Amino acid sequence: MKHHHIIWHHALVTKQDRQRLNKHKSCTLWFTGLSGSGKSTLANTVDRKLFERGIRSYVMDGDNIRHGLNKDLSFSREDRKENIRRVGEVAKLFVDSGQIVLTPLISPFREDREMVKKLFSNNEFFEIYVKCPLNVCEFRDPKGLYSKARKGEIHEFTGISSPYEEPLTPDLMIETNLLTIEESAEKIISFLQEKEII
Ligand code: ADX
Repeated sequence: MKHHHIIWHHALVTKQDRQRLNKHKSCTLWFTGLSGSGKSTLANTVDRKLFERGIRSYVMDGDNIRHGLNKDLSFSREDRKENIRRVGEVAKLFVDSGQIVLTPLISPFREDREMVKKLFSNNEFFEIYVKCPLNVCEFRDPKGLYSKARKGEIHEFTGISSPYEEPLTPDLMIETNLLTIEESAEKIISFLQEKEII
């Protein structure tokens, strides 16, 4: 749906103004990976570290957003796309507000992740592949969902009855079965420093 009679209103405070006030740049750290790979834990650990350094950041967790903004969405192909699109658009607003947004979402489809990346300019969107073998995620099964999916109680479960398309060229890859949470989080902090975001 296109709205022909809605005109963009320009702000008096720019993204650059806000970044200057915050003394750091803003960007989206898009965490993709299987359920149980450690995306949320990692995003929250990084968020805490940033907070302790006086950096303005916020976690937009797939599970949590599906309780509110996206509670009308299922896990069908189309709804996952819409889930990603909405979170991408909100993340873009947060970046405009001068913050670092961390978005742990499975986001299993390459096409959807590419669509979201296009919303941002260079150096404002980084894809972080939280990699962990399926059998390890299934063994961890923190929410008991893999076991339900195997029994057929959950349909279209990523990794079991719905595909996960690995990123081909992520900006950063974190292998959570090889590193501790602390090591993984530090890798992301160093990455933000290398990119001169913080
Ligand atoms: S996404 O595929 O649309 O990106 P999202 O990250 O928002 O998924 O939500 C994934 C979370 O929903 C999982 O961590 C899991 O707790 C829960 N979930 C419930 N049903 C499914 C399903 N069929 N596939 C994947 N995750 C599911």
